[in-house]
Amino acid sequence: MLLSDLKTPAFAVDLAKLERNTARMAATAQRLGVRLRPHVKTHKTVQGALRQLRGGRSGITVSTLAEARAMHAAGFTDITYAVPIAPQKLAEAIALQRAGAEPILLTDDAGAAAALERAAFDAGVRLAVMLKVDCGYHRAGVDPASDAAVALARRLADAPNLELRGILTHAGHAYGARNADEARAIAREERDVMVGFAARLRREGIACPEVSIGSTPTCARLEELDGLAGVSEIRPGNYVFYDRFQADIGSCVLDDCAASVVTRVIGSYPERGQVAIDAGALALSKDAGATHVHAEPTYGYVVGHPELRIEALPQEHGLVRLPAGHRGLAVGTLLRVIPNHSCLAAALFSAYHVVEGERVVDEWRPVRGW
Ligand SMILES: Cc1ncc(COP(=O)(O)O)c(C=O)c1O
Repeated sequence: MLLSDLKTPAFAVDLAKLERNTARMAATAQRLGVRLRPHVKTHKTVQGALRQLRGGRSGITVSTLAEARAMHAAGFTDITYAVPIAPQKLAEAIALQRAGAEPILLTDDAGAAAALERAAFDAGVRLAVMLKVDCGYHRAGVDPASDAAVALARRLADAPNLELRGILTHAGHAYGARNADEARAIAREERDVMVGFAARLRREGIACPEVSIGSTPTCARLEELDGLAGVSEIRPGNYVFYDRFQADIGSCVLDDCAASVVTRVIGSYPERGQVAIDAGALALSKDAGATHVHAEPTYGYVVGHPELRIEALPQEHGLVRLPAGHRGLAVGTLLRVIPNHSCLAAALFSAYHVVEGERVVDEWRPVRGW
């Protein structure tokens, strides 16, 4: 089957680019002397995870317990669930552990810590936990400058049914960077905050074996820092596919983007300067992309057509602005769109078509749900 035979909209994964992206990040981690515990949240497939780990099944990061179960069923055991655990999900996490996985759970909250202690005690298990730290993103995590952060770490370390593995952060504020220089400064901050906080815990007599950092924009800059001493692992995820946002802030170039939404022109209206495509919000997501970098928002980059701008996304239509004087595109014309945010676009498809050049060579089925 060829790309042009696909029913649209479809989600295409360019295997050569994905292999290149995953090999590069693995090599970066190796050069820096840190473990790569890749995040699988972007693709949510066993095939993608295996490529991230060069065919191995060492530690991975997931964003849902559904991902954790699917990865465990495929032979992965060392699985960090990198979202603060809701007490109501503890039974599921314990079931996963009883089934043979070694989930590592996350918290930044004393109430959740109490629930973790109680659930582990009641179940007669020992749960591995990481303390989530806020290194500047302000989405989740303890303030590493606070005394409460040390007190919570001590509580987790002292709980007989818990094992404090260390500290974990995600510098999501790197997505607000406008260029590589700004992303590099955030990467440095992420490293320094975490290494400094780990040192503070150790001075307080609290063991902190693991120091876990990582986002795609900061991992793209790590080799430009003066080393990663004190960091034990990195957890990038988006780099498997990349997307237009990452290209806009300098994490990659557009040619690295491995995922695209394949779509067809379904209406041509040159008199009003528009064409319609069959990829709407339910194929591309409504992520507006790096609006802090671009004055003119577009819901994705139309490959080979920098002159086209996707300006509106009703549910099943995309409305594409044509430059002045454009004659329109024939209905049926096939286009490929690099989404602004590949994690969100991928999540809208129940299958990915894996392509080598124009040939569709495989189909991957991602995990869905929570
Ligand atoms: C806790 C955590 N770690 C790692 C990642 C991976 O970051 P990125 O998607 O920028 O590669 C994410 C992404 O949201 C995350 O939330």
